[in-house]
Amino acid sequence: MPTVKVRVAVNGYGVIGKRVADAVVAQDDMELVGVADIAPDYRLRVAAERGYPIFASVEDRRAALEAAGLQVCGSFDDLLGAADIVVDCTPKKVGASNKPRYEQAGVRAIFQGGESHELAGFSFVAQVNYAEAIGRPFARVVSCNTTALCRVVHAFSSRGWSRRARAVLMRRATDPWESHVNGMINTAIPETKVPSHQGPDAQTVIPGLDIVTMAGSGPYNLSHLHFLMVETTRPVGLDELRDALWQEPRLAFVRATDGLGALNSVMELMRDLRRPRGDMWEVAIWEDSLASDGRELYLTMQVHNESIVIPESIDAIRALTGIEHDSGRSMEKTDASLGIVKSFLPTTSPAPTALPAPGREKVEAK
Ligand SMILES: NC(=O)c1ccc[n+]([C@@H]2O[C@H](COP(=O)([O-])OP(=O)(O)OC[C@H]3O[C@@H](n4cnc5c(N)ncnc54)[C@H](O)[C@@H]3O)[C@@H](O)[C@H]2O)c1
Repeated sequence: MPTVKVRVAVNGYGVIGKRVADAVVAQDDMELVGVADIAPDYRLRVAAERGYPIFASVEDRRAALEAAGLQVCGSFDDLLGAADIVVDCTPKKVGASNKPRYEQAGVRAIFQGGESHELAGFSFVAQVNYAEAIGRPFARVVSCNTTALCRVVHAFSSRGWSRRARAVLMRRATDPWESHVNGMINTAIPETKVPSHQGPDAQTVIPGLDIVTMAGSGPYNLSHLHFLMVETTRPVGLDELRDALWQEPRLAFVRATDGLGALNSVMELMRDLRRPRGDMWEVAIWEDSLASDGRELYLTMQVHNESIVIPESIDAIRALTGIEHDSGRSMEKTDASLGIVKSFLPTTSPAPTALPAPGREKVEAK
């Protein structure tokens, strides 16, 4: 066990922040020095049940937290003073207004996908660009959809296969905790801006990638559904496609023939596997819908928006603080601590080919 632990603060204890906090606690090289928020509702009170030190992100919210019975451990400046790095999980654009506070306190900061690339100057997906993040003061973990696209496309771009990628994203309407507030019913809403933000966002992580995304959202809240088409630089057969996906970290196959034919059944599997909050940190790819016509590859995949960026947030902590320079070692540590797998049902679903278990030796990015 490491003798010196990185001291981590989490600002914003919502969908992403509470998962990041739990994941930090699961690392043997990190210490959660506190979580901060402005809302004294059940979420922060669960943090109190877990024994996490609680801080008010904004001083004039401190009284409201205390009135709810929360023991506030100090000012936000006290929290930043006790931290080496803060993971900002506040709502879109709030992170940007927090950056000067982090700079003033001299702490490194990780922002989430609601913030712009320019805010942090660096956009992160662990298996793509960990080495470039080492020692940086700031990084942005890209959005859930962009993280998924980068992980999957990296399996092809790192092999020099990707000529152009096109993806259609059917996004969830809202998150489960706020479905009573922001849900939609009996409709689907196409985004009229093409490309949708995820394509340009993926290019901030994989420079030069030819990718266009179109998106819309529908009346469900379990996760996102992606259809990805990749034109390849040479014919790539189905076996090669399967092998490349098998070797790429944090992707896992599901099969409709196993009864996993829809978003809800895959999430039910996560609950059956007794995962915390039913989370799925991996991108689930339908193995039985993989296709290749010698010119293009076709993939259908599921992205659990609430949890997919949690492993990246943990790896980003190691990269920015420099406690681990090896991306493979960091990812392995993160995966082992959270329970991230290559196969959801390894006893009954053997590897897709006679390949050895996936290693972390990466094919160098082209
Ligand atoms: N929800 C998702 O599916 C998802 C997926 C990937 C990335 N993200 C990104 O993660 C970030 C956080 O999103 P979320 O879904 O967790 O939001 P959320 O609304 O669930 O949580 C945000 C939390 O921040 C708190 N907050 C609000 N203003 C604050 C302030 N000034 N200071 C401190 N805390 C404040 C809120 O009370 C809330 O607890 C955003 O950038 C979002 O785009 C969200």
